[in-house]
Amino acid sequence: MKIPPVKGTKDFYPPDMIRRNWIIDGWKRVSVRNGFEEYDGPIFEYLKMFQIKSGDEIVEQLFSLKDRGGRDLAIRPEITPTLARMVNQQINSLPRPIKWFSVPRLCRAERPQRGRLREFFQWNVDIIGVDDVLADAEVIFTACDYLQEVGLTPRDIKVKISSRKLLAASLRSIGIPEDKLDSLYTLLDKYNKLPTDTFENELSKQVPDAKMVRKILDFMVVDDINRIDINVSRDIEAAVINLKVVFAALETMGIKEYCIFDPSIVRGLAYYTGVVFEVHDICGELRAICGGGRYDNLLRDFGGSRIPATGMGMGDCILEILLKEKGLLDKQIPKKQLDYFVACVDCENQAYIGAAIKTVVKLRALGFTADFSYKRVKLGKQLKAASERNSKYCVIIGDEFVKNNELVVKDMATGQQELIEFNKFFAQL
Ligand code: HAM
Repeated sequence: MKIPPVKGTKDFYPPDMIRRNWIIDGWKRVSVRNGFEEYDGPIFEYLKMFQIKSGDEIVEQLFSLKDRGGRDLAIRPEITPTLARMVNQQINSLPRPIKWFSVPRLCRAERPQRGRLREFFQWNVDIIGVDDVLADAEVIFTACDYLQEVGLTPRDIKVKISSRKLLAASLRSIGIPEDKLDSLYTLLDKYNKLPTDTFENELSKQVPDAKMVRKILDFMVVDDINRIDINVSRDIEAAVINLKVVFAALETMGIKEYCIFDPSIVRGLAYYTGVVFEVHDICGELRAICGGGRYDNLLRDFGGSRIPATGMGMGDCILEILLKEKGLLDKQIPKKQLDYFVACVDCENQAYIGAAIKTVVKLRALGFTADFSYKRVKLGKQLKAASERNSKYCVIIGDEFVKNNELVVKDMATGQQELIEFNKFFAQL
């Protein structure tokens, strides 16, 4: 009986692993150079942890299970609640600001589609303990730093930035009651995901007044922050000033060209409280490559003190699709290469085989990648195998080895060969 892989999961064959590792190594390198330290948590947590503040959408997508003691658990769909829990646990001993990163494997029971799987990797960077919007700008910069490094330009992607504070203040000024804001955020987050008619219908169900609906729709399409009327309310004015400081910091950081104001960015997760952002491909065909924002109440909601926090998550799936589409993936991944392939002139001769194995083991002990053929084939075939493995050198064990303890070292690129004594060869490496 053939068993297929589970729907929405991905098998990583060796070439896929090379791509995955290349992406993840880049995430880690960029995190470290931006001053973040790595952390991780368990892949499952108590179910209630994700029910506290992540929002309905993610709760519906949970893979949940009961352990033998009857405890309700869930596989992590995101790592931010774990981060909040971990920071709360050691809050008095952690030096601040907390600048942490992680690359968790996450599971969400979503309907699998292009760029959306049920299991994926997500790069997270978070700054905890900083109220200043400079921290929001740093998070955005770190995401851009990576995207820029892998070759994506402002012609490929845009960082769309808005603010939950601005949205809340604008909705209040339109007349939306405070207790309706949360459910409205969930719908407004779908502005760019639902067909216009469906979105407007849903909006009319939540906001029966047609004039208010119009005002909300007008707000969602403002494309210049200077067009927001700051005289409407103090809260709107404060949110606009805040956002302008973020944009000024991003300009100073040299990534202005990537960043635009877009009030339709709301974010699906319920815990965001301030600046929010998403990175999208310019064609808008794919879902967000990355998303994040400020969540100043989450640590308090998890039983800690009210400590400000901001961060982002970037998934591997959409990023990989985009890099492939732009021809930026495979050309940047270094070709697989072997340092040494060790071949024998006579593969039936046990003395030669023994010497080849010894040579391989010694090379490996010195940190080189080295291999040999398991098949007892002629030298020509072994040399062919060496070039198929993209080996830099081929060491040939032949008669000279038996007579004078000498090896032939062939440079596979130039074809040049050198005869060298076994111990001298290793001494010069
Ligand atoms: P999120 O918007 O749910 O945010 O996810 C961030 C990114 O993870 C998405 O933009 C997407 O690239 C990737 N992603 C999400 N779901 C899937 C999926 N099913 N398949 C493939 N990729 C996916 C969060 O998770 C927040 N916790 C991020 C954050 C950290 N905010 C503050 N700190």
